[in-house]
Amino acid sequence: TVLVVDFGAQYAQLIARRVREAKVYSEIVPHTMPVEEMLARKPAAIILSGGPSSVYADGAPQLDAAMFDGSVPVFGICYGFQAMAQALGGSVAHTGQREYGRTAVSVLEPGALLAGLPEVLTSWMSHGDEVVAAPEGFAVNATSPRATVAAFENTERRLAGVQWHPEVMHTEHGQAILEHFLVNIAGCRQTWTSVNIVEEQIKVIREQVGDKRVICGLSGGVDSAVAAALVQRAIGDQLTCVFVDHGLLRQGEAEQVERDFVEATGVDLKVVDAQERFLGFLDGVTDPEQKRKIIGREFIRVFEAAEREIVEESEGTPVEFLVQGTLYPDVVESGGGEGAANIKSHHNVGGLPEDLQFTLIEPLRSLFKDEVRLVGEQLGLPPEIVWRHPFPGPGLAIRIIGAVDAERLDILREADAIARAEVTAAGLDRDIWQFPVVLLADVRSVGVQGDGRTYGHPVVLRPVSSEDAMTADWSRLPYDVLERISTRITNEVEEVNRVVLDITSKPPGTIEWE
Ligand code: XMP
Repeated sequence: TVLVVDFGAQYAQLIARRVREAKVYSEIVPHTMPVEEMLARKPAAIILSGGPSSVYADGAPQLDAAMFDGSVPVFGICYGFQAMAQALGGSVAHTGQREYGRTAVSVLEPGALLAGLPEVLTSWMSHGDEVVAAPEGFAVNATSPRATVAAFENTERRLAGVQWHPEVMHTEHGQAILEHFLVNIAGCRQTWTSVNIVEEQIKVIREQVGDKRVICGLSGGVDSAVAAALVQRAIGDQLTCVFVDHGLLRQGEAEQVERDFVEATGVDLKVVDAQERFLGFLDGVTDPEQKRKIIGREFIRVFEAAEREIVEESEGTPVEFLVQGTLYPDVVESGGGEGAANIKSHHNVGGLPEDLQFTLIEPLRSLFKDEVRLVGEQLGLPPEIVWRHPFPGPGLAIRIIGAVDAERLDILREADAIARAEVTAAGLDRDIWQFPVVLLADVRSVGVQGDGRTYGHPVVLRPVSSEDAMTADWSRLPYDVLERISTRITNEVEEVNRVVLDITSKPPGTIEWE
């Protein structure tokens, strides 16, 4: 395992992902973890992430020099690079001169770190201080206009660092630099793949479950589908999946779960048709939080009733385990580490609460979303499920601005299906993180169609790009794709006479409208 020490910036998760892309397993630990504890885990290497802009800033976390006792290779990035330089006796100048964004780095001496790379690299920088002298015994590999020492290495001590961010997309050869450290300097073996994860998890699940019974709530999303497929592979019929059809899904989604998922996995599935019940409770409700509360509450009621039925059908054998599709970012963000029980409830499938009396099985809790997709592919799930965009638990209810009813749901479903079909036809699915289509049900606008005046509703297109939904930007969809979507929706969906595009980033907007 490579430990990525998180100094509090948003880069630690990205670094951990890049390390795994190099086929080396990585985990994130907080910078507050004592160095002895890190070393006790016998990591293959430690990577220090970026963080506050200055080692001189108030309360900037300092680095315990005990980390450099020689037992573990260390790589410093940005702030981690400066903290490393300081702890090892180099010098860091508080210049107050900033270097932000795209910066040219000149290679002075490639060494092991920059071997085989061009003499000038485009890098992504974000720093105020500057390393002006490398620690003794270190070779200076590169320099930039405002970083006299922009990279250094000491291959004998297996230590190296760079001032820039090799983990971000805009840095050229960033992945190569990380791999040079991991493989050539730290000597890590590149053996970690999602194949291993599947085999390992199957073993773990079998041991944990024994001959007990397991239940899983399917939402139609990637995470719960992959988690369920993995558990099914491990214990077969001891698993029952429950799919609550609340009537707030998009066109074809319920069928996809009922037909395609079952076909691909052979899972024992219980479908509960609760559409009328949900629509009944949502009748006339316009407040978004109220909608969420009702849907969450009813979801649990229906799920519990299904569980009681399952127990009855099996003559009283209790269900002891619940499968959840919790992912690694949820674990990191809730401050949990290995084995931690603290899980963000709103990330759980369908928002099931922890006081449901089950022991949790979370086979994906060490994985990032892209890795979950690879595991899903490996388990033979259809691409429509594996590559599905994230979809909120409350479904279309929070994409109808106004009260939710069957007719409005039908209108939105039709418009949404057209937008999805056109994006798929244009081959853009994987460039887009999510593409909500929103019905402004309480707004009317005047239009003209044929010879007549219309008085219909607008729909909003909200395609966004993102890596984790925490921040997002609006997708620059090609005009011809937008045009086809607009023309088809206004022609084919009778009640809609206007299509508008949301060009707000997050922040300040959110991805969903409610
Ligand atoms: P926002 O709109 O806050 O959404 O930018 C961030 C991500 O979360 C999803 N989302 C939800 N998911 N229950 C969920 O399970 C919810 O109530 C909910 N609200 C938003 C949203 O689709 C996006 O992926």
